[in-house]
Amino acid sequence: MSSSRINIAIDGHSSAGKSTMAKSLAKELNFVYVDTGAMYRAATLFCMRERLIQGNEIDESRVEQSMDRMFISFKYNAHSEASEVHLGGINVEKEIRSMDVARKVSLIAAIPSVRHKLVRLQQRMASMGGVVMDGRDIGTVVLPKAELKFFITSDPDIRANRRLDELNQQGVVSSFEEIRNNIIERDRIDSSRAVAPLRQAENSILLDNSNLTIEEQFEFLLSHAKKIISGKQ
Ligand code: DC
Repeated sequence: MSSSRINIAIDGHSSAGKSTMAKSLAKELNFVYVDTGAMYRAATLFCMRERLIQGNEIDESRVEQSMDRMFISFKYNAHSEASEVHLGGINVEKEIRSMDVARKVSLIAAIPSVRHKLVRLQQRMASMGGVVMDGRDIGTVVLPKAELKFFITSDPDIRANRRLDELNQQGVVSSFEEIRNNIIERDRIDSSRAVAPLRQAENSILLDNSNLTIEEQFEFLLSHAKKIISGKQ
């Protein structure tokens, strides 16, 4: 289908299925999908490798000084049909999904110098339009003028079960309790941080997908996108 190059922002809680929806929508509309969570995860991996994190302690001034050496990019993988995140030119798509990174990422994502660098990169990626971007602050901070904004949420138990299934399929061993606690803790840190906290943008469309199938959610999002796009043509 041909479409005008609007930008679509998808925000919401951890593991609410934002990326599945954003990926499918981008594919259907022939838009570029940008997974901003993957960028914060890659920044976390960078800080871990640079030994800037000791337990839960982070040396913020050293993180700030290191930002010039952190290079995050995406490359399309035709095999997986997805854009994959690279750190310093090396594909780190697998490493960033580990529980080690998941445990630390909200702390790194709360650091102003990290957000500043990644937000500018995200805005550049969306400057030509035709982007579906998912994250926590896309509709509020990164792309406040996005033509279409969604806020996706669902029950924490349902999110934890879905995430457990996903990790099991990837052969990663974890428990429901550990995943549920991590999801709740990330929601808490993401919503209460001083910089760009997770909140629903005023003009965004709320979707609670607790009782919806993937197909039903997709139809909901696509129908809204088609409405906006046809109004632009
Ligand atoms: O979407 P995700 O679970 O992969 O995101 C990982 C973490 O990154 C999440 O705990 C919050 C943070 N994040 C953020 O602060 N801002 C964004 N735009 C995207 C993610």
